[in-house]
Amino acid sequence: MGFRTLCAVDDVWEGEMTEHELDGHEILLVGLAGGDVKAYQARCPHQDVRLVEGEFNGRRLICRAHRWEFDACTGRGLNPDDCRLAEYPIRIEAGQVMVETEDVWPLYGHT
Ligand code: FES
Repeated sequence: MGFRTLCAVDDVWEGEMTEHELDGHEILLVGLAGGDVKAYQARCPHQDVRLVEGEFNGRRLICRAHRWEFDACTGRGLNPDDCRLAEYPIRIEAGQVMVETEDVWPLYGHT
């Protein structure tokens, strides 16, 4: 399927996150401190809560429901540290954020 356009890179603000749908995938875009953009599964690995409703400071992402924390640069779980967010490959081309959804599926952790 290849990389497909998700949104304009100007729509992703540093320290903010937005939720998108593409090819049946729910995708969270995060604007990292320093300007990089990452794309992750949009739902928390714990109990499927929308991560866009949580807190994000440009580095750490915290789910609103039970305060699980993730490193927004890697998707790695920080608390607890035995989980992670699935990451979508991303490309920035001609001012657009392009995402590849093939073979990326949400991950789930313990309850
Ligand atoms: S659903 Fe996210 S921490 Fe529980």
